[in-house]
Amino acid sequence: MAGKQRRQWRSTGKGLVLGTLLTSCTILIYCLSSAQIPSSHPEVPVPYSCAHRPSQLRPKRITNRSQQTTEPTCTPRVDIMFMKTHKTASSTFLNILFRFGEKHRLKFAFPDSRNDFFYPSLFQRSQVKDYRPGMCFNIICNHMRFNAPEVTKLLPTDTSYITILRDPAELFESSFHYFGRLAPFTWKIPGHDKLTEFLRDPHYYFDPDGFNAFYLKNLLFFDFGQANTLELDDPRVEEGIQSITDRFQLVMLVEYFEESLILLKEALCWEMDDLLFFKLNARKGSTVSKLTPQLRAKALQWNAVDWKLYQHFNQTFWKKVDAYGARQMAEDVAELRRKNAEMASICIEGGRAVEAGSIQETAMQPWQPIGEKSIMGYNLKKNVDKAHRKLCRKMLMPELQYLTELGVNLWITKLWGHVRDVINW
Ligand SMILES: *[C@@H]1O[C@H](CO)[C@@H](O)[C@H](O)[C@H]1NC(C)=O
Ligand SMILES: *[C@@H]1O[C@H](CO)[C@@H](O)[C@H](O)[C@H]1NC(C)=O
Repeated sequence: MAGKQRRQWRSTGKGLVLGTLLTSCTILIYCLSSAQIPSSHPEVPVPYSCAHRPSQLRPKRITNRSQQTTEPTCTPRVDIMFMKTHKTASSTFLNILFRFGEKHRLKFAFPDSRNDFFYPSLFQRSQVKDYRPGMCFNIICNHMRFNAPEVTKLLPTDTSYITILRDPAELFESSFHYFGRLAPFTWKIPGHDKLTEFLRDPHYYFDPDGFNAFYLKNLLFFDFGQANTLELDDPRVEEGIQSITDRFQLVMLVEYFEESLILLKEALCWEMDDLLFFKLNARKGSTVSKLTPQLRAKALQWNAVDWKLYQHFNQTFWKKVDAYGARQMAEDVAELRRKNAEMASICIEGGRAVEAGSIQETAMQPWQPIGEKSIMGYNLKKNVDKAHRKLCRKMLMPELQYLTELGVNLWITKLWGHVRDVINW
């Protein structure tokens, strides 16, 4: 009994020490990195388009379903704002965007020194690497807290706004797993199963003003620049959802990722080959939900605003699928899956993801959450034929490595990685 208690104390103590250290480091890094140039940028109107060949009057695509021709009567859209929400398979989508950007030699609006735009502070265009007023950027896709006025002053007028949502109960579970330890109020939650204990009485544990508290309530709504602690009947909830509806042409769903990509291809006039992907940044055993029906209900109640947001866009999603044609959708999804499986057999050693310890190349090691090595990665096959070698490597490349390859300096993110290596976290 005493031994058990002592063990518990020791682990609590260890948690506290590590937690304090982590918080100090995070604060230090934020202080170091958020010294931004004051935004005294003159107002220069953004261009209409930043495509090389602006598609002035894009002819409406007439798709005759009975005819199996897919004549490209439209030009691919290349000006894209992807609102990268947290814990929503967005690393996989970023890989698709990176490859599309390279193929069309597009200019990305990247952050400087780290892989996000000073999240959780609201996006400012002065945070964009090498930003000068009047510049042409095609794609922005790193984590940010959405801030419409600043985004519209950065991107061309014809930009397509895209985002992705995930079932809020699953998202909450994932966010709790990844970011729980970054919110100090979770340290006092007793027991082994902190998630269950938290959801037993969230109002008791949650501190809305606590450091990093936004990770643990309505994180989706927060990412869109809205307040995350609103009551469900607050008019700002409806207004927030409406503003997202007005701004974003396509809201994808993680649960229907392939269907989402087909809708994207339709909306942006892309090709099927632009949609090829391997699931990146996946957590070990993440294919099965870790939530019991009771916990799920509690998680949805706790994240009621996100649940409302999700249900709204679930409806608009299936309306779009209907308009596209359910049968056509099923055929296209099957084709995409077949092509992805083909690529997997060409590129991936063993054909599947493996645990971090089994990844041979450091260039293929994904970034791990604090305190564990739960993110899976891949081994590139040894003798991929020349025609596929480059594509395979890019499709398998974790986000941070790809960002570095695209010229983003990630010294803060990397320093953080070294600190964790040293303290063996
Ligand atoms: C689609 O193509 C078929 C076969 O060519 C034709 O009979 C039909 O009229 C077309 N439908 C439309 C809406 O153009
Ligand atoms: C999403 O919409 C579909 C079609 O309307 C419906 O069957 C499904 O239950 C909805 N899912 C959620 C989570 O609301």
